[in-house]
Amino acid sequence: MKHLLSMEKMSRADIDHILENSAVLKRQRGDSQHKPLAGQFWALIFSKSSTRTRVSFEVGIRELGGEALFLNANDIQLGRGEPICDTARVLGRMIHGAVIRTFAQSDVEQFAEYAKIPTINALTDDEHPCQILADIFTFQEKRGSIQGKVVTFVGDGACNVPISWIFAAAKLGFELRIAAPKAFQPPADLVKRAGGRIVCTEDLKAAAAGADLLYTDVWVSMGKEAEAVERIKVLGGYQINQALVKLAKPGALVMHCLPAYRGKEIDEATFEEHAQTIFDEAENRLHVQKSVLNWIVS
Ligand code: CP
Ligand code: NVA
Repeated sequence: MKHLLSMEKMSRADIDHILENSAVLKRQRGDSQHKPLAGQFWALIFSKSSTRTRVSFEVGIRELGGEALFLNANDIQLGRGEPICDTARVLGRMIHGAVIRTFAQSDVEQFAEYAKIPTINALTDDEHPCQILADIFTFQEKRGSIQGKVVTFVGDGACNVPISWIFAAAKLGFELRIAAPKAFQPPADLVKRAGGRIVCTEDLKAAAAGADLLYTDVWVSMGKEAEAVERIKVLGGYQINQALVKLAKPGALVMHCLPAYRGKEIDEATFEEHAQTIFDEAENRLHVQKSVLNWIVS
């Protein structure tokens, strides 16, 4: 049985397969009679807000012939303290797959273990693998193979999105630079475990120099709202703006996983100048996750 629990656990071969098939699914959208989820029920169990992930999975599951049930974690007994392992054993007897957005990575892993149905991580505090697959697909669609390229992440370098980028870098052979204040750099042991060419630095300008892709994410991730004031103070300056883009390679891409907070991690002018790429990236969540679903049930 296959799961997508983290970028860390994905193999290069599976990543390549998913990315290649994403292009096919994108081209064939609306024409394909391929319904690998026909007769299946998939639950989306979300403990955090979502626009892109929720809608792209709901639409994607239906386009592949399945039925999607959206379960706000607070509306089911999970929100009143029923353990994950019990929730998983119940749902595992009724549905065919689960897409989970939550806090602890261990909850997604425990769900997969107990439900014994294909399980997808739709964002935890540790990782956001579906996002990074769509980001890499978008980069490659516009610039060819990411191997040997330089990706610079700017901002909170210790949250889920950059962590999934870190695990992708070693597998796909690109250089990843994380520009973040010391307190928001990823743990050194995690970087070591991932391997590959990862540079963590406070020197924003050096990190951006010659980059093929500048990438950012919110300064205040979901669940970190109580730290908002401190984060905005410490992360202030770690912004993608027009001056920073000038240091990157001419024609460098700018991407953002969204939602974006203009004037914080990115300035308004840079966001709008690169809106085509950023919203292609958002759309590609649909195509890439359909490819993930297709892979997971095959
Ligand atoms: N990028 C992303 O995962 O967006 P949502 O939080 O809207 O799903
Ligand atoms: N790091 C962000 C990603 C949002 C898609 C968060 O966890 O809120």
